[in-house]
Amino acid sequence: MSRVKKAIIPAAGLGTRFLPATKTVPKEMLTIVDAPIIFYVVEEAVKAGIEDIVLIAGRGKHAIEDFFDTSYELEDRLAKDGKSHLLDRLTKIRSMANIISIRQKQALGLGHAVLSGLPIVGKDPFAVLLGDEITMGFHGEPNVTAQLVNSFNETGTSTIAIMEVAEKDVSKYGIAEVSEQKPGFFKVNALMEKPKPTETKSRWALPGRYVFDSEIMDILKVAKPSLGGEIQLTDSMKVLCDKKGLNAMTFKASRFDAGDKLGYLQANIELGLRNPDLQAGLREYILQVSEKIKNGSFV
Ligand code: UTP
Repeated sequence: MSRVKKAIIPAAGLGTRFLPATKTVPKEMLTIVDAPIIFYVVEEAVKAGIEDIVLIAGRGKHAIEDFFDTSYELEDRLAKDGKSHLLDRLTKIRSMANIISIRQKQALGLGHAVLSGLPIVGKDPFAVLLGDEITMGFHGEPNVTAQLVNSFNETGTSTIAIMEVAEKDVSKYGIAEVSEQKPGFFKVNALMEKPKPTETKSRWALPGRYVFDSEIMDILKVAKPSLGGEIQLTDSMKVLCDKKGLNAMTFKASRFDAGDKLGYLQANIELGLRNPDLQAGLREYILQVSEKIKNGSFV
């Protein structure tokens, strides 16, 4: 039986990369194909066996909460109109998991957002899934969070996902220096938040999926702000790594930073291509656009 039944999804950032859209709509509510980003994140957690999901929300909190709640008027209308497939989909979404919403009153950083989930996770191990990162595995494979949960269940050690990035992108991420234990499975030796590529040889970046031992909360409680004046999760992970060890895993899945404009567009295209109702039309359109690009349009 899995020991990891709870997850924290931080979704209280300001979303400045997506202004002006995020002035009134939290970025986690922006749509990928036909559902908000947060839906795909919650779905990943649920498929990994998570039962209680703690949403760390800021402004626009109601839109996220309402999405996972009953909409009596709408459901009644769909039932009367015989639109059972849509009604089923809405019913499934609101029955997916226990969604518990906690307000992070100020966006003091990712570490602070995770610590806000303490009243619910208590002394239990828990997963963290960033609310603006989508990972989409391939048919039949366990998703990224499920792989981390399996590793935690086997080793009892906190485990994070890592992915290789280009040198020019190192300064956009938390970076882990690792040593490989077996193919795809590593021990973390050091962690840095958004280093310059000259400060580390490592190209292993943290894409926003973690499973932690509850001790990370004790460390976060006394964490001080650092880079950007924020309480960085990476700083507390360093302490956890020194005290109890930290594992890292690569994964087989597409991953999108949907809180970034390019990542958001890529997610819409790839998930659109995976959607049976859209794939033929979208594919045809992409091929037409590719031709135009080759012929020098859009430059
Ligand atoms: P980001 O750094 O991507 O979020 O944090 P941001 O601050 O909203 O982004 P920009 O740069 O201004 O566009 C990663 C995740 O952590 C959450 C965000 O909502 C996002 O899902 N977060 C970040 C919080 O919940 N609270 C915070 O104080 C900071």
